[in-house]
Amino acid sequence: MSTVNIKIYKKLGYVDNLPKSEKVLLDLISNGMPLERLMQSSPTRNVKLINSLYNLEKRGIISLNIESSSPVLKKIYKALHSIDQSCIKEPGMNNIIGWEYEWSKYYNLFDILDPHSEQYYLKLLEKEIYMYYISPYLKKIKTNANILDVGGGVGRFAIELGRRGYKISLVDASETSLKVALKYFIKNKIKDFSLYLHDIDNIDDLFMNETFDAVFGIEAICYATNPEKVLRKLLKVTKKGGFLFLSVEGLYGSILSDPQIPIDKMHDILTTGILPIQKNVFTHYYTKDSFRKIVEKCGVKDSTIYGTHYVPEGPFNRLIDMEKLRLKSYRKYIIKLEKWFASTPAFNELARSWLGIIKK
Ligand SMILES: C[S@@+](CC[C@H](N)C(=O)[O-])C[C@H]1O[C@@H](n2cnc3c(N)ncnc32)[C@H](O)[C@@H]1O
Repeated sequence: MSTVNIKIYKKLGYVDNLPKSEKVLLDLISNGMPLERLMQSSPTRNVKLINSLYNLEKRGIISLNIESSSPVLKKIYKALHSIDQSCIKEPGMNNIIGWEYEWSKYYNLFDILDPHSEQYYLKLLEKEIYMYYISPYLKKIKTNANILDVGGGVGRFAIELGRRGYKISLVDASETSLKVALKYFIKNKIKDFSLYLHDIDNIDDLFMNETFDAVFGIEAICYATNPEKVLRKLLKVTKKGGFLFLSVEGLYGSILSDPQIPIDKMHDILTTGILPIQKNVFTHYYTKDSFRKIVEKCGVKDSTIYGTHYVPEGPFNRLIDMEKLRLKSYRKYIIKLEKWFASTPAFNELARSWLGIIKK
C-alpha cells in the first residue's frame, strides 16, 4: 500500500502566519487523520495537498517521507522540490511563478486596463505621473520608431505608445498578461506590435544590438535576479542616442507604505536593499543614490532620476480619495502634490518609485 509518513515537529498553536488551508491540514494530521483519507480522486486537489505538505515541511513544521508513496505523488513532490531549487539559484523566478499565481487568484484586479477593475483609476493616475516626466523626452522620438516595453504586463504603456504610432515590442514572462495585452492591442486597432513570452534576464537572446529607439521598463528590472545585468542587456539593444525609461521600487518609500513587508525582514532590507521572498515576490529596493550607482556602473553618462509615487501607493497614500480618482482635475492635483514632494528635500528620498531617464 502506498503511504506518506509524516512526523510533526510543531503542533498547531505554536504555528503563526500559516495560510488557512495549511492550518486546517496540520490540524487534521496532528489529530491522527491518515493522509490516504485526505487524498481525493481529483489529481489537481492532490497536487494542492502535496504542495501544502511541502510548504509545511519547508517551514520545519513537519517532515515527510514519501519513499513508499505512489509514483505520481513522488513525481509531484520532486517537481516542487526542483522548482524550489531553481528559485534559490535564480530568485527572480519567484516573480515569474508568483505573477501567474496572482493572476489565477485576482484576475479582475490585475486586468488594470479594464475600467471595471478596482485598480483602473489608481493605475491610470500612476501612469500619468510617469508620463508627466517621460513626455518631454518622448517628444524627441519620431512617431514610427521602435519601442521595446520589458515586463510590460497588460500593456499599460505599450497600448498608449502604440496609439501614438510607435512600433511596439512587448516582452513579459507572464502568459496571462500577454493574452490580456493582446486583447487591448486588438481593441485599440493597433497593428504594428509584437508580443514575446520571455524572461528579461535573457533579453539579448531575442533582439540584435541597437534595435530600439527607446526602451520602457516600468516596475520591471527591480524584480529580476540581477537588475544590473538586465540593465546592461537593455543598453545593448538600445540604439546610440536612444532613451531608456526605467522605474524601480524606492527603499524608504516602500518600507513606509507597503503593508506586505514583514517586520522581521526590515533589517535585511535596510542593509542589503533586497527583500528575499515575500508572498512569491522577490524585490530589489533602491535609494536614489544606489539606483544612480548601478546606472553609472553600466557606463551611462547621461541620466536623470525622478522620485515618484509619493502619494499613490506611497507613504502619503492616505491623501488619496479613491472616489475622486475618476476626475481628471483631481488626478492633475495629485500630480501637482507629487512634484511638491519630489522637490522638498525632506520628502524627496521617500519616493515609492524612482524613474530613471537614461540616454545611451
Ligand atoms: C509590476 S508589473 C509592471 C507591468 C507594466 N510595466 C506596468 O507598468 O503596468 C511587473 C511585470 O513584470 C513581469 N516580470 C517579472 N519578472 C519578469 C521577468 N524576469 N521577465 C519578464 N517579465 C517579468 C511580470 O509578469 C509583470 O507583468
